[in-house]
Amino acid sequence: MASQQDLDFTYSTIDQVFRLSIGETGDYSGAMYNGDFSLTLEQAQAQKHQFIADSLRIRPGSKVLDMGCGWGPFLTYIKHQRGAIGRGVTLSQEQAEACRNNGLTVDVKDCRLITPDDYGTFDAITCIGGMEHFCSIEQWQAGEQDSIYANFFKNLGDLLPTGGRFYMQSMVFGEQLPPFDSISLQADPDSDAYYMALMIAQFPGSWLPYGPAHIGHCARPYFKLVSISSGRLDYIETIGQWRRRFRAFNARKYAIYVSLLPRLLTNPAFRGLISVFRKSPNRVCFERKIMEHYRLVFEKV
Ligand SMILES: C[S@@+](CC[C@H](N)C(=O)[O-])C[C@H]1O[C@@H](n2cnc3c(N)ncnc32)[C@H](O)[C@@H]1O
Repeated sequence: MASQQDLDFTYSTIDQVFRLSIGETGDYSGAMYNGDFSLTLEQAQAQKHQFIADSLRIRPGSKVLDMGCGWGPFLTYIKHQRGAIGRGVTLSQEQAEACRNNGLTVDVKDCRLITPDDYGTFDAITCIGGMEHFCSIEQWQAGEQDSIYANFFKNLGDLLPTGGRFYMQSMVFGEQLPPFDSISLQADPDSDAYYMALMIAQFPGSWLPYGPAHIGHCARPYFKLVSISSGRLDYIETIGQWRRRFRAFNARKYAIYVSLLPRLLTNPAFRGLISVFRKSPNRVCFERKIMEHYRLVFEKV
């Protein structure tokens, strides 16, 4: 699994830049355009929130856990639009602090280890872009990926009643994933292997599931899949919109970019993080089908 240090590198480093660009409680996961790319990013994110809340049947008073809550976009939506009682967990200290400052209930905690002793049980649970971080390259190489996901779904089952629903969306590997041995920052800079190396640098400690069937297989003893849709094209559009907002001038934000420059020059891993100013590895991986993206709704059996 990505460690707290890994996730702080990915998320806490960009905390202020993110909030200045996308908004205090902005989404850092693929939006939902449903084929209508004339929507604004904010409209498409709101459409996603609505889809998730409807799929999970979230109503006034529903108790909802958001695993890997980021800066709290979904918690904010269900609090204000659905009258639900939300709780979030993240492994990024800065995200948790920002969420609390915005009136949300959020702890720094590993969501995979939550038991009913921590917060009781929930009516509905979400994990919007968190599963990407559950398995590290080393764990995948040691053959532990399936058991990590199966344990996650087993623990998740303890937190929901029978018939309770879980929404997740995750990047997964696609049909064009290059051989692992070819992945390198020294590879040809336009190659699939190079873009995958940038992804690994940007998201240390994280190795993706091999498609929705892989996730469904690991969930099967505890959950049935009730809905599935691809968000790959939506994610490509989302990334384009993010890049515009990250580049938009703001004096405080650009001062932060400048302060990151020395780390950029000395640490190749930072190249992934400044992808707002170059070609985004994330976007290229989706365009080339090195990666796919899926939204899955599960129901506890
Ligand atoms: C791509 S961000 C998505 C954030 C948010 N769900 C959204 O849609 O904006 C991934 C989030 O997952 C969190 N995360 C990853 N692994 C986690 C774990 N094991 N326990 C808790 N949070 C985790 C990260 O800290 C981060 O907040």
